[in-house]
Amino acid sequence: MHGRGETQVRAGAETDLTALTDLYNHYVRETAITFDTEPFSPAQRRPWLLSHPKDGPHRLLVAQGGDGTLLGYATSGPFRTKGAYATSVETSVYCAPEATGRGVGTLLYGALFAALADEDVHRAYAGIAQPNEASARLHARFAFRHIGTFAQVGRKFDRYWDVAWYQKDLR
Ligand SMILES: CC(C)(COP(=O)(O)OP(=O)(O)OC[C@H]1O[C@@H](n2cnc3c(N)ncnc32)[C@H](O)[C@@H]1OP(=O)(O)O)[C@@H](O)C(=O)NCCC(=O)NCCS
Repeated sequence: MHGRGETQVRAGAETDLTALTDLYNHYVRETAITFDTEPFSPAQRRPWLLSHPKDGPHRLLVAQGGDGTLLGYATSGPFRTKGAYATSVETSVYCAPEATGRGVGTLLYGALFAALADEDVHRAYAGIAQPNEASARLHARFAFRHIGTFAQVGRKFDRYWDVAWYQKDLR
């Protein structure tokens, strides 16, 4: 575990499923940060959770407050499914809405990339729906660089949204 104050970062577990689903559903319902448009039930979200084992390139890390509250999570997952893409991952990070702007995202990404350091991962990619200053700054802090923008690639809440893609070179 990695701690900062009372906040602990650890691998996500099935016992986190409901809290993880609730946190994500907030962004599904309220924002275009994710392009999912329908909220998930915990059961629907379970395959996603199980697709992140405790080792290997595809990880799920959670940040937990001293009182046990889920403060956020970070993941690495397949970038695309064809075999040659196996050395690339897509990463994402979500803090609970009341836990943003106080270092939780930095803590999670720090732990995620520390965990990936010994894995056969060469590139990490993140797609950031525009605008998202906090996410752009977090990714810049972790040496992601902007490599291009897909203009109006998604439609949510009756309007189109751009996604800026960022790349981080791992090894
Ligand atoms: C994006 C997110 C993960 C960043 O995590 P965080 O814990 O809020 O950020 P931190 O406190 O670790 O700060 C990281 C950087 O973001 C900046 N930042 C944080 N909140 C900010 C805000 N509201 N506006 C502008 N910059 C902000 C910090 O100043 C810091 O920048 P620096 O490294 O240049 O000093 C978090 O805000 C979040 O979950 N947002 C909603 C979901 C989301 O957008 N996820 C990313 C999808 S691509």
